[in-house]
Amino acid sequence: MPIKTDQLMAHLATINRFSTNEVGQNRLVYTSNWIKGQRQLIAWGHQAGMRATVDAYGTVYLDIAGSQAPDKIIATGSHMDTVVHGGPYDGLYGVLGGFQAICELIQVLGRPKKTLRLISFSEEEGSRFPATFSGSKHYCRVEDVAGIQDHAGIDFNKARQAAVAKLKEANVHTGLPSVPTTFTELHIEQGPRLINAHRQIGLVTSIVGQRRFTITVNGLSNHAGTTPMADRHDAFQIAVTLISRLRQLAASISRQLTFTVGEVHVWPNTSNVIPGKVTFSIDTRHVDAAVLNRFEVGIRNKAVDFSIPPISVTVNRWVADKPVQLDASLLQRNENLAAKLGLSYQKLASGAGHDSEIMSRVTPTTMIFVPSIGGISHAPQEKTSPSDLHNGVDLLRESLKQQAY
Ligand code: GLV
Ligand code: MN
Ligand code: MN
Ligand code: MN
Repeated sequence: MPIKTDQLMAHLATINRFSTNEVGQNRLVYTSNWIKGQRQLIAWGHQAGMRATVDAYGTVYLDIAGSQAPDKIIATGSHMDTVVHGGPYDGLYGVLGGFQAICELIQVLGRPKKTLRLISFSEEEGSRFPATFSGSKHYCRVEDVAGIQDHAGIDFNKARQAAVAKLKEANVHTGLPSVPTTFTELHIEQGPRLINAHRQIGLVTSIVGQRRFTITVNGLSNHAGTTPMADRHDAFQIAVTLISRLRQLAASISRQLTFTVGEVHVWPNTSNVIPGKVTFSIDTRHVDAAVLNRFEVGIRNKAVDFSIPPISVTVNRWVADKPVQLDASLLQRNENLAAKLGLSYQKLASGAGHDSEIMSRVTPTTMIFVPSIGGISHAPQEKTSPSDLHNGVDLLRESLKQQAY
């Protein structure tokens, strides 16, 4: 069954044009470019004869109903949103690669016995609002979002309702579809292991747990020229020392514990005023929840140690996602199929977060990775060769075929 790689590449290019004028891909959840992406997908789904449903979070479901067991749902997909200045494949490859795989199956084999479902989750990255996986958490009835804003002060639920109203103009069904029988997510690896090992496919065994925090350091703003060095309560200098101690602490707990401070805000952020307030993010990940617990206790203790009046340091945790094991029998199926297709593969754990970790709480779930050139992701340079993109779709299609026909 030959794959129409050109169609996949053309679809990727079309949606990747829905971005801001800034560098990289910028399709943050509920923005106008995100709306255009989901609407384009709905239009393609309609052309392919699929039933399109949109839920209250703006996740799009494209179904081709099974002829014999329509209630058994074999699902695939990933997320439509990107990080700020992201790459062309994170999330989108799983959406459009899944769409490609399903289209080929229905073109060549006709209607499946079980329902095939393509899912384009609304949001996975946590890049606009302080919440991650809000689309899959809503679909899986795990958790809903309330009372959070983006940096412009726009309320999540207001942005959500406005964007979903735009999607509903596209002649779609609405509601929250049932949880599928299985879920497979196709994704770029986003790291260097497959490319370094010259493997075409990664079969994902587990996904790390992650926690994210916002740390606020309150000091005292004052004149940069007149305030003696010994009399300062410079929130930025304290934040720098604190970050350096936390990095050392993370390394002492486990060499595999990741520690990233990716977002910093300084007030008033001007050259001749001692900073009175700083907030910074911490993103930390590990395969073992006990390690994350230990580090969280360490973060909270350090915040207390650094809170010497008039300085105060507060810790707000806004993500606590557990490490998960993915389904062993779906992985075994994909291992057999990869061997049959003559694709080189290896099993690996994912250091990135994915909607699959939420899906795995409610249904057997597996992931297929393809190599990332240079191991780069969450950056404009993110790249995968067309032949590797093609291989991932081939494997996904064969797995969906075995399960649904
Ligand atoms: C999501 O892409 C994450 O791992 O941060
Ligand atoms: Mn092929
Ligand atoms: Mn992703
Ligand atoms: Mn990502």
